[in-house]
Amino acid sequence: MRAAAAAALVAAAGVLAGPAGAAPPPDYDQETIAQFNSASSVETIRHLAVDIGPRRSGTPQELEGAQYLAGILDGYGFKTQIYAFPITGNRAVAQVSSPNATLTNGPHWQFSASTSGKMTGTDNPVTGDVVYGGAGATAADFPAGSAGKIVLMDQGANAAARNTQVANAVAAGAKAVIVAATSLSAAGVAAAPPTVTVTPSYPDIPIMGAGRSHLDWMKAILANGPLTLTFTTMNYVNPTRAVVVGRRFAIGDPDGSKAPIVMVGAHIDSVLGAPGAHDDASGNGVSMEIARVVSKLPLDKEIRIGGFGGEEDGLTGSRAYVATLPAAERARFVGEWQMDMVGTPYAPAKLWALTPDGRSNFVVDEAYKASGRFGFTGLDNCKLGQSDHQAFFDVGIPSALFIWLDYHKPVAPATCVSIGQGQYTTEPEYHRPADGMNNISPERLQTTLDVIGGALAHNAMNRVDIRSNKPNTPVQADCGDGVRRMGTTDAAGALPDLRFPHVTCTIQVGGSSRTVAIAGDTPVSLTAADGSVGGTVPATLALTLGAPASFGAFLPGVDKPYSVSTTAKVTSTAGEAALTVSDPGHLANGAFSLPEALQVEIAPASWTLPVSNANVDIAFKQHIGANDALRTGSYSRTLTFTLSTTTP
Ligand code: BES
Ligand code: ZN
Repeated sequence: MRAAAAAALVAAAGVLAGPAGAAPPPDYDQETIAQFNSASSVETIRHLAVDIGPRRSGTPQELEGAQYLAGILDGYGFKTQIYAFPITGNRAVAQVSSPNATLTNGPHWQFSASTSGKMTGTDNPVTGDVVYGGAGATAADFPAGSAGKIVLMDQGANAAARNTQVANAVAAGAKAVIVAATSLSAAGVAAAPPTVTVTPSYPDIPIMGAGRSHLDWMKAILANGPLTLTFTTMNYVNPTRAVVVGRRFAIGDPDGSKAPIVMVGAHIDSVLGAPGAHDDASGNGVSMEIARVVSKLPLDKEIRIGGFGGEEDGLTGSRAYVATLPAAERARFVGEWQMDMVGTPYAPAKLWALTPDGRSNFVVDEAYKASGRFGFTGLDNCKLGQSDHQAFFDVGIPSALFIWLDYHKPVAPATCVSIGQGQYTTEPEYHRPADGMNNISPERLQTTLDVIGGALAHNAMNRVDIRSNKPNTPVQADCGDGVRRMGTTDAAGALPDLRFPHVTCTIQVGGSSRTVAIAGDTPVSLTAADGSVGGTVPATLALTLGAPASFGAFLPGVDKPYSVSTTAKVTSTAGEAALTVSDPGHLANGAFSLPEALQVEIAPASWTLPVSNANVDIAFKQHIGANDALRTGSYSRTLTFTLSTTTP
């Protein structure tokens, strides 16, 4: 079987033209990373962090993030699915914007919504002017005219003080109350929006919790003029969380059931109140740019892009997704490169590859190799969980967290494997309303794109191992986009592990006229009949259909045969292959079908040897009788052509 395939392939191959005098095109790895542009990543991040804003898991904003990513992936030809995984519990959140002021890191702010106060529901926004009531400890703290206003106060130090301040604000006529955190950590990090619970409850007054940064920003606006806010409060009870997964099937695996899978992931959700530009819109920004570039390549691996909700709830979205994968599907994973916080300008941060056990693994090794291909020496690796790579790791899929972080590597004799938990310092914006676009570095995103995108693309490309009887000889390839220098064979005549973003290439070793055509998928070594040169031929069945066919206008009342044809191209490495068509049935125009069936003729419809880009003629015939009733409009029908084999 292998020998027969080899002979057929060698016989089918042409002779490669020698390289022109001009410099050869760059190799395919370099050519791929040259296409990554972090400006596209920044736009994805901006949409998530600014246009949508904070994306607390279980809120509509998390779903909006998933839908946005699904739209991008659909546009690149991925097959996308949005999962809705159940959450037990509630999410009480306030969505806040301003009609008259520019909210820092806005326009969408998110506060906590107190279940002690009124839930307006998302359809009933409340608008009001903000007044600052200080500590709200006595009536004197509230400015004149607080009645009917949204009263903002510094959060009381204890439950009694908070009960009193909210009661005082309500007595002053507040239409809504904002209790804002005041604390700054020793390192100067402003406190996040607090959960506010007060006694008694106020079923008619919305009560919200804002972060310290929100407090500072609102006070700064109020110092210069009025501040009006429009907000809703909503308690989502047992909501769902969104996970989006895009799949781009491998050439030769049209139903996505057998090809190896290379995956990148990031998380969609943010913590309450944080725009989550760095954590982790940034990861999705990089994923989408990788998706754009690899979607142009015919590849023999399946590409998966994951956008996980629920990460901040304890990796719940990624764990739920992994749980949907049958064992056979998990076994197809080559690896999962998880990107979480992949480009802060925070100076002490470096790019780390972190694994739950502190050991290097396949995806870490491949990231180092990708770094080496463009001369980046800044990557380091050590130990950490705390993101969605853990979910993949736990089911045996090679995975790592890629993160720009000030990670503190253990000092000898401690090692990344021996330590209990990794130590690090995050940037001050981390998990805070301050995590907006200022916390994004296009330069570092570009490095992440080149390392992770470079590793993913390399692993998704079609692999060829050259074996020949020509030691120390240059190898060239022509895949239709220029003659490439692929390297030089070793002393044994071998040049392993070449990668091609193509399924059909012609390879030449030295000046020899012996050439072979190759096509991609699971590598199978072979040697040509005379032993001069060999390549690996992955099993491939590829079908490309020509333009859709149209019969033109059918004339009513005239007995006439109509015919039209189109073409297809077939590449098959199988011993035999057959091209069939689904039941042609009858052309239809809405509820009206033609009385006579459509006929389809395929020539040739079967092959007994491997073929590359073999032409196929597809003829369509339709007879219309003189008495056949025809309805105004277009008659059409979608047909499915299937290329199959029993001897792959
Ligand atoms: N982006 C972080 C992961 C992270 C790791 C941040 C290391 C900083 C340093 C992620 O979104 C996160 O916040 N993870 C949680 C743990 C998770 C299991 C809820 C965390 O690190 O607290
Ligand atoms: Zn986080």
